[in-house]
Amino acid sequence: MSSINYSEKIPNNVDIGGDRTLQRALEHWQPHFLQWWQEMGPSDFASADVYLRTAISVDAQGWAHYGATRMPDYRWGIFLADAVPERKIGFGDAMGQPVWQQVPGEYRSTLRRLIVTQGDTEPASVEQQRLLGHTCPSMYDLRNLFQINVEEGRHLWAMVYLLHAYFGRDGREEAEELLARHSGDADKPRILTTFNEPMSDWLSLFCFTYFTDRDGKYQLKSFAESAFDPLSRTCRFMLTEEAHHMFVGETGISRVVKRTLELMKEIGSDDPARVRAKGAIDLQTLQRYLNFWCSSSLDLFGSEISSNSAGNFASGMKGRPDESQYEDHVLRSSSFKLLTPEGEQEVPTLNALNEVMRESYLKDCEIGVKRWNRMIERAGHALRLTLPSSRFRRSIGPWAGVPVDTTGKMISKEEFEKRLTEWIPSASDKTFVQSLMQRVIEPGRMASWIAPPERGVNNLPVEYEYVHLH
Ligand SMILES: [Fe+2]
Ligand SMILES: [Fe+2]
Repeated sequence: MSSINYSEKIPNNVDIGGDRTLQRALEHWQPHFLQWWQEMGPSDFASADVYLRTAISVDAQGWAHYGATRMPDYRWGIFLADAVPERKIGFGDAMGQPVWQQVPGEYRSTLRRLIVTQGDTEPASVEQQRLLGHTCPSMYDLRNLFQINVEEGRHLWAMVYLLHAYFGRDGREEAEELLARHSGDADKPRILTTFNEPMSDWLSLFCFTYFTDRDGKYQLKSFAESAFDPLSRTCRFMLTEEAHHMFVGETGISRVVKRTLELMKEIGSDDPARVRAKGAIDLQTLQRYLNFWCSSSLDLFGSEISSNSAGNFASGMKGRPDESQYEDHVLRSSSFKLLTPEGEQEVPTLNALNEVMRESYLKDCEIGVKRWNRMIERAGHALRLTLPSSRFRRSIGPWAGVPVDTTGKMISKEEFEKRLTEWIPSASDKTFVQSLMQRVIEPGRMASWIAPPERGVNNLPVEYEYVHLH
């Protein structure tokens, strides 16, 4: 286990002090990051003392340190999981060879692109969430939002470290660009569509952390397999942080469902209008939010048929999540059946790896849905929440722009357009959800539309003052 050195300007466990050029470059970037945080992060809460956890070592028990911190004083740093001695490449054409400690010249631009694309999502989500603190449903939730924000900031540090340490001048330029693009900006948007979607309510935040942070989990898992060892080690540590973000999403939606069921019981009705009149989110509206964020996140895996994914795998740059669960790690004689609008197609598995990843992601997404449906079933209601088909509302791949309903059935363009507001939030759904977004900050109190969490943070009571606002 390696502990993190907090005595340096940039906390780290990779001895950046031993490389003066790198240290100077990162110390030069640091004030730019802080300025970005002040302009684009949750800066209205800069003076709040937030009960945050900070990693002190990179093993599973390393999250020992909790305490009140002002967010701008958070110790963002560079933490890599411990190296695996004698680690070998676990897949692709170079399987069995030693992993790379430097970037091979022929993969330089592709690896840089992969790191930049991952890195771009991290500050993007902070930007998307920057105003949500004003409408938090409880102080507990406010604290969780800020914990996620500081950790996404650290994920940016993680990627910037790789760019600075391994990609020379190009890497340093990319690191500056990561602060120059902004979510939703007309001229300089973030790279991926989902990270340009506006997020003005907490139901969207819970869906985002459930679906989009889970895409993050799958991307990080596939990079954790990478032959580029520093990338693998960085991502392995990021995964421990990511788990909390998905926890916020899953428990957030669970608490919405719980509260709605309580009110349905109280009024003896499942009529959405009456549920709404009670200040809760009807399950039909929740379903539309799930459809929106799930389908948007599905695009993040890329096209079903992709020669890039084949090249990234064959070269060893990017594996499949949990690569060891598979038997064939080379995939030179394996094929995969895909459904396209033209019918079933058989393609080399190497070219279908985005789809392989999307399928395992969807399986993971099902776990929460099952849990929510058990709650609904126990309360005696027939409605069941579902995930939309992976063909629904796609913008990338063979199903892009094809009119398909949420079950994956092809329909006419007219029907699709007419029925879209049945499937994703309409303007009036958004207005309604927005109307519920009233800030609640008395410790222990919850907004009308959400049940309290089962427990507080780090064994503290739910009514603990997790954020001290000045
Ligand atoms: Fe992240
Ligand atoms: Fe995340």
